[in-house]
Amino acid sequence: MPSPTSGPISVLLAAGGEPWETEALRLLPTEGIAVLKRCVDLADLLGTATTGTASVAVVSGLLPGLDADAVVRLLRDDVRCVAVGGDREVLTRLGVVHCHDPGEVASLAEAVRGAGSRSFVVDPVPPEAELREPAAEAGRVVAVHGGAGAPGRTTTAIALATLRARTASTVLVDADPHGGAVAQHLGVLDETSGLLAAARAANAGTLDAAAFARCRRRLRDGLEVLTGLPRPDRWVEVRPGVLDVILDEAASVGDVVVDTGFSLEDDGDTGRSLARNQMTLDALARADHVVAVGSAEPTGLARLARTLVDLRDLGPAPVTVVVNRMRDSLGWSRRDIVGMVEGYLRPERVLFVPDDRAAADRALVTGAAVVEHGDALRRAFAEVHDAVWPASATVSPPSAGRGRWRCRRP
Ligand SMILES: Nc1ncnc2c1ncn2[C@@H]1O[C@H](COP(=O)(O)OP(=O)(O)O)[C@@H](O)[C@H]1O
Ligand SMILES: [Mg+2]
Repeated sequence: MPSPTSGPISVLLAAGGEPWETEALRLLPTEGIAVLKRCVDLADLLGTATTGTASVAVVSGLLPGLDADAVVRLLRDDVRCVAVGGDREVLTRLGVVHCHDPGEVASLAEAVRGAGSRSFVVDPVPPEAELREPAAEAGRVVAVHGGAGAPGRTTTAIALATLRARTASTVLVDADPHGGAVAQHLGVLDETSGLLAAARAANAGTLDAAAFARCRRRLRDGLEVLTGLPRPDRWVEVRPGVLDVILDEAASVGDVVVDTGFSLEDDGDTGRSLARNQMTLDALARADHVVAVGSAEPTGLARLARTLVDLRDLGPAPVTVVVNRMRDSLGWSRRDIVGMVEGYLRPERVLFVPDDRAAADRALVTGAAVVEHGDALRRAFAEVHDAVWPASATVSPPSAGRGRWRCRRP
């Protein structure tokens, strides 16, 4: 039940004349839920939602016109959709937070409370992150990308952010649309999603410095993280353009390292669904520097080639290539690999990170960055760091005190 101070959850009902409507109208109010209005159709629902009085829309999953645009318009008004009936898979893709069986209206109130209290997507516990004055100049945005098969994007993003945080305040953003992994790597155990909280604020046009500070988690001096999607199906809440707003906020705090997804394919032409990979494309489009990660074995290099073609076609920022898990037993030299890479794209640098399973495992088990667990990995990632942030881009070290971190670039 809602807490005494929270009041009833305000609901808009757009049942489209479905037979479950009568029972829903009878049961919901007895469960501490206020049905503000029965909307006659989608237009009525969208119009009413703009008044900002409701937090949940209970809709028929078959409501004419219900599409991703409608769901995001509701989200912008901070109204989350619970659908009754319809195709679960399609509705989830649209961004509906809960799909309910029309035969189980008796438990609909519970679903509404879950949506209203946001238990489906838990917001971060505020205000652990500190609100700091914005950096004097916007930080650089570095996107870490790579193809399928887990080449080490997250490992690289964490390593780079950890190293960067030693000299400049840094925000690590988990923007993998296929599900966040940064929190698991770093042993951040709570089920909160900084990305979704920031996306929700951005959708509502309220993502300012204070709101963004509440979304981040401070890991240590100089390093903060915006954790990723708690479940892969929540990607739909990060609409095209929203990541831009988030990255701009992050860049006003310091340098930004973004962990992205594995695919750049445009998957948005499938009926009413949105492009899941748009988040990755948005990150790459916004990046000042792209780190392309591939793994050194044959399938890894084939995928790296594909990634390089994609990046070349997109024409994003300068690219540094990281060939991860390099080992002699594979039988090819560094020079062979550099030649292969340069056949596709002219990167800033091609750098190699050794295969060190023991160090990588120690890092995973202790929730640390690999650079804290292996000399060879630390040296290799330090080179990548220096390629991405050349020494000419000097910065002042972060101070322990509140409000005094500054990035300064000549
Ligand atoms: N250089 C390395 N040596 C050994 N293991 C590594 C190395 N880099 C990454 N790994 C391991 O590979 C796995 C996948 O890495 P991860 O960074 O999660 O990939 P991605 O983000 O691309 O899916 C993890 O278990 C990680 O510890
Ligand atoms: Mg990953």
